This record gives sequence, structure tokens and C-alpha cells, in this order.
Amino acid sequence: MGFHGGNNLYKVQTDTNISRTAAGEISLNIMDTWKYYGITHRGHLVCNPTSEAKLDELVQLLPLKPGARVLDIACGKAEFLLRTVERHDCSGTGVDISPYEVDEAKRRTKNRNLGATVEIVLANGSEYEIEPHSFDLAMCIGATWIWNGYAGTIEALKKAVVPGGLIAIGEPYKMHEPSPEYAATEPDFVESLLSHAGNVETAIQFGLTPLYTSVSNHDDWDRYESLQWLAAEEYAREHPEDPDVPELLERTRISRDTYLRHGRDTLNWAIYLFRSPG
Ligand SMILES: C[S@@+](CC[C@H](N)C(=O)[O-])C[C@H]1O[C@@H](n2cnc3c(N)ncnc32)[C@H](O)[C@@H]1O
Repeated sequence: MGFHGGNNLYKVQTDTNISRTAAGEISLNIMDTWKYYGITHRGHLVCNPTSEAKLDELVQLLPLKPGARVLDIACGKAEFLLRTVERHDCSGTGVDISPYEVDEAKRRTKNRNLGATVEIVLANGSEYEIEPHSFDLAMCIGATWIWNGYAGTIEALKKAVVPGGLIAIGEPYKMHEPSPEYAATEPDFVESLLSHAGNVETAIQFGLTPLYTSVSNHDDWDRYESLQWLAAEEYAREHPEDPDVPELLERTRISRDTYLRHGRDTLNWAIYLFRSPG
């Protein structure tokens, strides 16, 4: 998988275990979805096309007070959440559906002595019961399919935050109209894409005030994508006996080619920070 189609593929594979090859053929996936992502993302600090410097800059900028409550749905390894809690002396809840990511998030939480202030929960974000209007910051960085897309995510996170609370969403956007070949390869994902301005304007229509955007560049994307090639290829060498290796390599290589042919020059990605009304 590559993030170029990451939103789409994460969702498709979670729901049905079916994906579409770069040639447009439907293929049945047998490998456990979360094992696949656990392997391909094992070298990532954050599982999105951003950098450590951008992450730290955003964390520094968050207008949070000590004691604030932070919710991160689809927290992955929870690096954003943990850095936020450390920097702002607040508490946090991270939720993720993958046992691989949750294990790593718990390990990082423990290693940084944050067990008393950070709770990591293994759950489907769409089913996790959020206490209404109880968080000072609610975020979903790179998993808006949980609420059927960007608009649904804005609505869900608005309900989670106190009046005047902060919302952070990581979301791809198109830099120009995708080619017909790209649209044919990942139709639902490509069709769902807005422009950068479109992502901001949609949030304004929902009553949010834009505060900041942290935007990716080619370095961030190439790091994010090619760390997956490295992880998969090295895993295959280390574990030749694993029956999932052929599928792991096939999917990673299809994803690599789709990124290089289409995603790299069409897509970008940003973390959007908003303030909710009130
Ligand atoms: C692109 S990664 C982003 C992870 C993290 N936010 C970060 O920036 O590093 C997407 C994450 O969403 C999680 N995920 C996918 N579907 C989910 C769902 N329905 N509920 C909760 N987490 C989900 C995956 O396990 C993965 O950790």
C-alpha cells in the first residue's frame, strides 16, 4: 500500500479484503491487513508523509493549556499524541484498530513514562464511544474513511471537542486533476479528493476556523513511500519461510509503481488545524 491510495486501500482492505491492482484487476488478499501494515510501516516514526521537524513544529504551535485532554483516533504508534502530551503537560487517549500499532503505541507510552496520562485503546474508531464535547483537541491524522470521509470526520470531531476546542485532521488533496489512468486505478479514492483550498473551505462551511496547515513535500512523500519498500523487501529476506511474503511483495511493488506513476505528481497531503466554534 502507498499513501497515494492509502485512504482508499486501508478502507477497502479493512472492509472486504479485496484490492485492485495497478492494471485494474481485482485480487483477493489473504494476508492479514494489519500484519501487512505492521510490516510495511515498521520503520516509520509516523505513518504519514510528514517529517519529524514538521511534527515538532505543529506540536509546539498547538494552543493547549496544561491539563488539556487530547483524543487521537487512528493514533498509529501514537508519536503525535505522545509529543503533544509531553510538550503541553496534558493527558491523552489514542485509539487504533490495529493490534500491531497499538502494541507499539503502548510500548512507546511506557518507555516515556506516560502510562499515567496516556491511554491507548484497541478499537474501531467508528465504534469507539467518545464522551461528547469533552476533549480540548481531537484529531484524526490520516484515516478519515473511519467516518466515510473528510466531511464526516469534521462532524465527528466537532462533537468530540469542547466549544472552542481544537481539531486536527490529516488529509490528502489533489494538486491538479488526476489523469484518467490514475482515476481508473483507484476510482473511489481519486474521486473523493478535494484541492487544498477545497479542504480548507469545506471546514469553514462546517463552522471551523482554519488556524494552520502543515503541508508535505516530495521528501516527505518519498520517505513515507520508500520506507515501505525497504521494510517489505528486508522482511522478505529475513523471513523467506513466511507464506505471506509473495503477497507482501506483490502488494508493495504495485503500490510503489502506482505512487511513482501517478500519486507522486498528483497528490499532496496536509495536517489541517482548526478551531471549533464557541
Ligand atoms: C495512515 S496511518 C496513520 C497513523 C497515525 N495517525 C500517524 O500519523 O502515524 C492510519 C492508521 O489508521 C488505523 N486505522 C485504520 N482503520 C481504522 C479504524 N476503523 N479505526 C481506528 N483506526 C484505524 C491504522 O491501523 C493506522 O494506524
